[in-house]
Amino acid sequence: MILRDAVRVLAGNWDGSYTVPSRRLYPHQWSWDSAFIAIGNARWSPRRARTELLSLFGAQWYDGRVPHIVFNPRVPEDAYFPGPDFWKATAPSGLRTSGIVQPPVHALAVWKTHLADPDPAFLARLYPRLVAQQEFLRTQRRDADGLISIVHPWESGMDNSPAWDLPLAAVQATATGFVRRDLRTVSAAERPTDRDYVQYVEIAQLYRESGYREPGPYHVVDPLFNAAYGSAEWSLARIAEVLGLDPAGHEREAAAMTETMVRHLFDGELFQPRDVHSGRLLRSASAAGLTPLILPGLPAEVADALIATAIDRFAVNDMPLPSYAPDAPGFDPARYWRGPSWVNLSWLVWQGLGERRPDLAKTLADAIVRAVSLSGLREYFNPVTLRGHGCRDFSWSAALVLDVVAEHSLNGLKPSLRACGQEPGRVRTAGDIGDHVLA
Ligand code: SER
Repeated sequence: MILRDAVRVLAGNWDGSYTVPSRRLYPHQWSWDSAFIAIGNARWSPRRARTELLSLFGAQWYDGRVPHIVFNPRVPEDAYFPGPDFWKATAPSGLRTSGIVQPPVHALAVWKTHLADPDPAFLARLYPRLVAQQEFLRTQRRDADGLISIVHPWESGMDNSPAWDLPLAAVQATATGFVRRDLRTVSAAERPTDRDYVQYVEIAQLYRESGYREPGPYHVVDPLFNAAYGSAEWSLARIAEVLGLDPAGHEREAAAMTETMVRHLFDGELFQPRDVHSGRLLRSASAAGLTPLILPGLPAEVADALIATAIDRFAVNDMPLPSYAPDAPGFDPARYWRGPSWVNLSWLVWQGLGERRPDLAKTLADAIVRAVSLSGLREYFNPVTLRGHGCRDFSWSAALVLDVVAEHSLNGLKPSLRACGQEPGRVRTAGDIGDHVLA
């Protein structure tokens, strides 16, 4: 039932060459959404997964950046704010886009798509584009320590995380004359505040006015973004091997990023963001700080400390992973990125736990499946009550549930679908889930 529902959502949100995250709330193509969606689509329609990623990279800029939104020209301007008239940016392909980026989880998605259905020609098409994406970050966003910075909270993907309260407190925001569209679909209590939006618009306008070059008042190093960057180098090394290229440069870069993150961002319990303006760590309790677990070269003692934090502060043995630690000031279990459980964050941490702590990985997978079984494929979930929040029929919730279920079933673990009163069915190979659940 869950699998059938997941495929229904992905099929319903498919727009011919990519998948909208949500028909009403996010009616265009989003960058990191597409990566997560491809990972799930690879399990039942690898062709769709490849098309999704090729379509996103079709909007890559000459400087290598992959914009965080690619606008569908057939969708009216007032369907989403800020739309193409706000960003005033056009990719070489002619598609209108935003001018900021999102965590580079795409190389991992390309590699996972290949693992589900090996296709060296697909790897060959995307490899140079993925390298250019990393090159953009290296040349335009790297600080003196070797860390990659972001210039807008939207670039973190975790827009209104309490981790950004401090760097945003200093932002003078006066932007006016815009109308939020998100509140037509989702209750204001579950979305960022109006003050947040004034600041988002202000920061985006300043970056736009600099020709999308100069960081403005919000300039931060984010652990999730850097973990994604390091993991991308690791994936690029695997892709290079298949293509008969030398993986050594990518391996060195992945190792260097891992080492730099441990040296500068790890506080003994969690990886923390850093404010570029002050040079100080932003002491926070964001689950972004657990995601360096996806780095294969993370030292064992650091991984052990993160796992202890995941259990002690994020209560992963008792609830689906919250996006912010429930014991920390600022936690809100129902408001966007201030505490609810999101399937993509859970998925990243689940990936990172896979080989290190398979028992805990399974606990995390069970929790994801429990939440969607109870509340449907919602955008996010109250980690305590499991109530669903945000939009319905959310694409990456659907996609990543397919991936998690396929993985555990393939390993013979048969996750908690049964415990939830659902029959997992027979998920035999990566390629046949779609056939099975649609049968
Ligand atoms: N997350 C943003 C939104 O809520 C866009 O990236 O619209």
